[in-house]
Amino acid sequence: MPGYTVIPGRGARRDFVEGLASALGADIVEPIAKEFPDGETYVRVEGEVNGTPVVVQGLYPEQNNRLVELLLLVEAVHAYTGRDPVVVLPYLAYARQDKRFLPGEPISVHVVLKALEASGGGHLVVVDAHKPEALSVYTPGYTNVLPAEAFAEKIRGIAEGREAVVVAPDKGALGRAEALAKLLGARHDYLVKKRDRVTGEVKYMPRHVEVKGALVILVDDIVSTGGTMAKAAEILYSQGAGSVIAACSHGLFIGNALEKMKRAGIREVYAANTVPLPEDVEVVDVSKLVARALTERLKRG
Ligand code: R5P
Repeated sequence: MPGYTVIPGRGARRDFVEGLASALGADIVEPIAKEFPDGETYVRVEGEVNGTPVVVQGLYPEQNNRLVELLLLVEAVHAYTGRDPVVVLPYLAYARQDKRFLPGEPISVHVVLKALEASGGGHLVVVDAHKPEALSVYTPGYTNVLPAEAFAEKIRGIAEGREAVVVAPDKGALGRAEALAKLLGARHDYLVKKRDRVTGEVKYMPRHVEVKGALVILVDDIVSTGGTMAKAAEILYSQGAGSVIAACSHGLFIGNALEKMKRAGIREVYAANTVPLPEDVEVVDVSKLVARALTERLKRG
């Protein structure tokens, strides 16, 4: 009898679900899910759910629909099994609205987490949350899985034998750059970015980073419009970088983001398999890291 049963929502990437189930030694039980003619979502769990139920859902694209499906699925699994399912969210949508930047705004990520808890969600596992401390409102507890190991494995080959610098495109990503640099035996540094909260426009403050002739690996949690990565690459080339590549945990690549990044001279783009990805992005599998973090955390109780 398996220790876990993986129950995926329709938003979850297939390779992630299969990788996770295989690493956990778990069966996959597919729920029934559909939309009613009026657009409302329907789910039903059927079949044998042995051991700890693990609900996996992808929350991008169609964040709002996938979120409702997640809540319904968690409630259904909770009632069907009599247990609080572990919830695996490779990409936590709404994570960037983690405070009231302007008066009158909601703290969206708290609303999402509280709804998940009210639906019967158990321990929550996410990949590279924008700011992990925002998850502390979720009382069943959470694990934030850092993907640096998986990125290091994939990038090591091109960094070997070269002067490499891992750069965070803003201070918020400094910890990510530091972790990857440590695993690659490289230096790390950061740029200073300011975002206009009303227009969303990104500006960089002057800061010298020692990158002359080096391979620069830009690392961030999310690529959305690609503006951050593109501007950071331009600055690094203007400071003498030899070549720039980019790695991100959640590659949303809205509109012409990838093209913008390529135009700025970013040679290769690596992204974790937390959301659907365009074809010319190098996919980094993080499902095994998630399985390991989940089992270690549940063993500790
Ligand atoms: C923001 O703080 C995030 O870490 C990313 O830097 C940001 O979401 C990237 O957005 P964009 O690709 O639109 O510049």
